[in-house]
Amino acid sequence: MDPVFSPVRLGPATVRNRIVKAATFEAATPGGVVTDRLVEFHRRHAEGGVGMTTVAFCAVSPEGRTDRDAMWLHPEVAAGLRTVTDAVHEAGAAASVQLGHAGPVANARSNQLPALGPGRFFNPLGMRRTRFATEADLTRVTAAYGTAALLAADAGFDAVELHFGHNYLISAFLSPLLNRRDDRYGGPLHNRARLALEVARTVREAVGDRIAVTAKLNMDDRVRGGFGIEESVQVAAWLQEAGTVDALKLTAGSSLLNPMAIFTGDAPVREFAAAFPKPAGWGLRVSGRAFLREYPFREAYLLDRARRFRAELSLPLILLGGVTSKSTMDTALAEGFDLVAMARALLIEPDLPARLRADPTVQSRCTHCNLCVPTIYTRTHCPVTA
Ligand SMILES: Cc1cc2nc3c(=O)[nH]c(=O)nc-3n(C[C@H](O)[C@H](O)[C@H](O)COP(=O)(O)O)c2cc1C
Repeated sequence: MDPVFSPVRLGPATVRNRIVKAATFEAATPGGVVTDRLVEFHRRHAEGGVGMTTVAFCAVSPEGRTDRDAMWLHPEVAAGLRTVTDAVHEAGAAASVQLGHAGPVANARSNQLPALGPGRFFNPLGMRRTRFATEADLTRVTAAYGTAALLAADAGFDAVELHFGHNYLISAFLSPLLNRRDDRYGGPLHNRARLALEVARTVREAVGDRIAVTAKLNMDDRVRGGFGIEESVQVAAWLQEAGTVDALKLTAGSSLLNPMAIFTGDAPVREFAAAFPKPAGWGLRVSGRAFLREYPFREAYLLDRARRFRAELSLPLILLGGVTSKSTMDTALAEGFDLVAMARALLIEPDLPARLRADPTVQSRCTHCNLCVPTIYTRTHCPVTA
């Protein structure tokens, strides 16, 4: 059997093949409520042949939403999410939900709640300063991860993905640039990693072996003075040692300080500026090129960094970033990655996995123009095909 289309165990879950639909905030939850559009979005991906789809983004608490139109996982939302997991399972795929806390990336103005950060700094999206997260805040947020994971298991998810990337709350704590604290959560790496490790442990204790626990970890913030690969490999090793996660999905970049490093490819500055409310939109129009610094796209652009993790860990790893072809998937599995994840290539063609299965020479139509990225402020889609 073709390894890409062979099933794999992910902790207690079985995934029918090695292709994961990576998190792409769907913008299908106005006011934080599950809609039919969210169900249909994931049904299409499941019917398109992925092994597992990822619902995104689901905050663990109200101030952890990116803005007021993101979900936070409480019992009513969990009941709505059951319709998503049922639809995905009906089509033969597994379902994961990305659990996170946006931390300093949260739009405090939209949420009408202060954004939490390891320190106090300015967030241009909400045009407000973050609030210093006290130890009491961190205890509450950590417990909220456990509650949310339990609700996710009850809602029928096969896995949760803990967001440890992109300078969202936990990733901001990992960053020596953003985290200048002098308490138990700041300073040396084992202190900056405390929140990540405690969250993973709390989630594992909450769900036991009912569902898989994965984390999306930054290998590198791609920000001078930020969290980098040496420290990230160490954090991954600690997670492995603790036995609290079943797999890591490896990412890079910072929604706060270097967003284009997450994607690489073209920076759609004009479209971003148009998507933002004033005055953030005005600011982007003026300084967009500096903020949205471009990186050339390369197939599997995170593979070089991810190889370090593969060499040093035995934990299952999911390769992400510019995976668009069957030959890249073959390479990833041959190099010991257990799964691959795709975001943009599946936004333009949700049925790409099924087509690749029928004909491995099929080429993705995604041109990494990134015009899909600003659509997260209205209805996430590929505008090239819409
Ligand atoms: C429209 C869009 C929305 C995204 N939303 C999220 C998100 O909610 N959470 C997250 O961790 N990553 C998000 N990402 C990043 C992707 O999961 C992925 O890390 C990135 O696009 C690189 O993968 P790709 O080259 O396969 O597109 C988003 C990407 C896109 C294009």
